[in-house]
Amino acid sequence: MKIAVMFHLLGAVVWIGGMFFAYLCLRPSTSGLEPPQRLVLWAATLRRFFLWVWAAVALILGSGFYMVARIAELGRMPLYVHLMLYIGVVMTLIFAYVFFSSFATLKRAVAAQDWKTGGAALNQIRVAVAVNLALGLLNIVVATAGAT
Ligand code: HEM
Repeated sequence: MKIAVMFHLLGAVVWIGGMFFAYLCLRPSTSGLEPPQRLVLWAATLRRFFLWVWAAVALILGSGFYMVARIAELGRMPLYVHLMLYIGVVMTLIFAYVFFSSFATLKRAVAAQDWKTGGAALNQIRVAVAVNLALGLLNIVVATAGAT
């Protein structure tokens, strides 16, 4: 169980910390750039970050479902674990949608130098990341304060 918690937290730190940096530090710093530079930079940055997010999702869900199975064996599952599971699954679905839809559009638009379409796709990603960041931080509160 301790090893599972370790993988769980490593995944959460990479995913939520990465979104925090992207949303609150990189985004304001790139707002003054011209669309071609800004979109090329974001497409390259997100391409790398999203690979790490897939790894983080695998770690969080793998360790999470393992721990859920262990807790279920012992008896009743606490409410905060239910909540964490649902929030984590919703975050994963939002990320999968962003990756396969908005991010795919962003990459295609950057390759075609279609800055208008690219800007719209990046805007969708920005909103989704804001939602997932809020959900991720909430999940840390649920997981820690909920357990007390
Ligand atoms: C981004 C999503 C998630 C975050 C940020 C998160 C965060 C955390 C944190 C901070 C802990 C406390 C670790 C400790 O004991 O110190 C924890 C424990 C746990 N998480 Fe998550 N979690 C997430 C998703 C999930 C999912 C999807 C599941 C189920 C599939 C899950 C199942 C569990 C379980 C079973 C525990 C152990 C609870 C206990 O020991 O009572 N988590 N999580």
